[in-house]
Amino acid sequence: MGISLNTDFLKSYVSDADIKAQSPAVEKAHRDLHNKTGAGNDFLGWVDLPSRTPNALVAELMTLALEVQAHSEAIISIGIGGSYLGIRSTLEFLGGQPKLPVYYAGHNMSSVDLSRIVELIARKKVTVVVISKSGATTEPALAFRVVDAAMKQKYNGAELKKRVICVTDEKKGALRQIADKEGYRSYVIPDDVGGRFSVLTPVGLVPLALAGVDIKALVDGFRAGEQEYANSDLTRNSCYQYAAIRNILYKKGKCIEMMASFYPNVQYVTEWWKQLYGESEGKGGRGIFPASTILSTDLHSMGQLMQDGMRNIFETFVMINTLEAQVVIPTLADDTDKFNCVAGKELDWVNKQAYKATADAHYEGGVPNMCLTLDRADAFHIGQLYYFFEKGVAISGYILGVNPFDQPGVEAYKKKMFALLGKK
Ligand code: PA5
Repeated sequence: MGISLNTDFLKSYVSDADIKAQSPAVEKAHRDLHNKTGAGNDFLGWVDLPSRTPNALVAELMTLALEVQAHSEAIISIGIGGSYLGIRSTLEFLGGQPKLPVYYAGHNMSSVDLSRIVELIARKKVTVVVISKSGATTEPALAFRVVDAAMKQKYNGAELKKRVICVTDEKKGALRQIADKEGYRSYVIPDDVGGRFSVLTPVGLVPLALAGVDIKALVDGFRAGEQEYANSDLTRNSCYQYAAIRNILYKKGKCIEMMASFYPNVQYVTEWWKQLYGESEGKGGRGIFPASTILSTDLHSMGQLMQDGMRNIFETFVMINTLEAQVVIPTLADDTDKFNCVAGKELDWVNKQAYKATADAHYEGGVPNMCLTLDRADAFHIGQLYYFFEKGVAISGYILGVNPFDQPGVEAYKKKMFALLGKK
């Protein structure tokens, strides 16, 4: 069980001496993080959250899940950014059929999407989970107005109350006021955990439990990550190596990180990662631009640029060792398509050769790359990977010299939008 980092295709770009030279900066970042002496130190609740997460909360949510699964056919999860991406990323990564399907709202302002959600409420027995830390974000607030009205048309009294769950701040914000006024069941997002670091809080745990995810394994994976990546010694901490390597490459002009996976179930993990890294590091005129591809699909669209375009990119692959299902390639009697060379092999073996060929070709073409390999695509490993990336961006951001825990830039468009909307 676990996650490994392979750096073979970095060699001519990142030397052992380059990595060693990062040790003092990494150790300082580690101290600042663990002693809470760095920038943004009031948002470090996520660092030891895995070991602080009570088993009783996990058990309570598993019981709630049984109750909701007994009376509902679908979940509507309302939220955006950190209150949306971790939920979707986990469910898509795990694949298969959840016990309850999850429909998303409040992550855009599409009238078409939201009207489909309203139709769904009319047709099916649903439970709504509305998630907003601030309780004031435009997209989920407007979506919840519409969804809450539709719920009230269909349900009332105790029936309504058992079907609307709010996840928000303990005291502040409009959603807290609504939950208290309406008597909706609510769960608290800790003050000291920012949105993009909140997947292990009730933000992720409530909807994932209702959908039927093994949240105990997810929490265990986070706990494994907390232990595994606690060592301040760069040579013994792959998470810190990842953070250091990113900064070395950035200083050498590689200002775009392409996260690439040969597994389509990783697509929303890359979306979650883009928010985490983009919002944490992109500030003060600095920051690596996080981008993503799903291969081999995108080799047929982005492959040319990756191989041969502007050489300002490095790549991080996410691979999976053992899959839950295999397909064996049949033999063709006349070998018309000349693929009998792989007949009898598992398709995933071919997929893994495609990865090896791509990593090598991109390296030769001027794109240094590294690879994170997960043993399995299960709840434990995604939990550990989330912690890897959360700690990775904290260390990387501190090395870069930014506060990884604020997002002042996202206010600029909001001010202009609120002026246009006439919002006080
Ligand atoms: O990382 C962040 O803080 C943001 O992306 C938020 O998660 C996002 O804006 C949603 O905020 P809220 O949960 O307050 O509605």
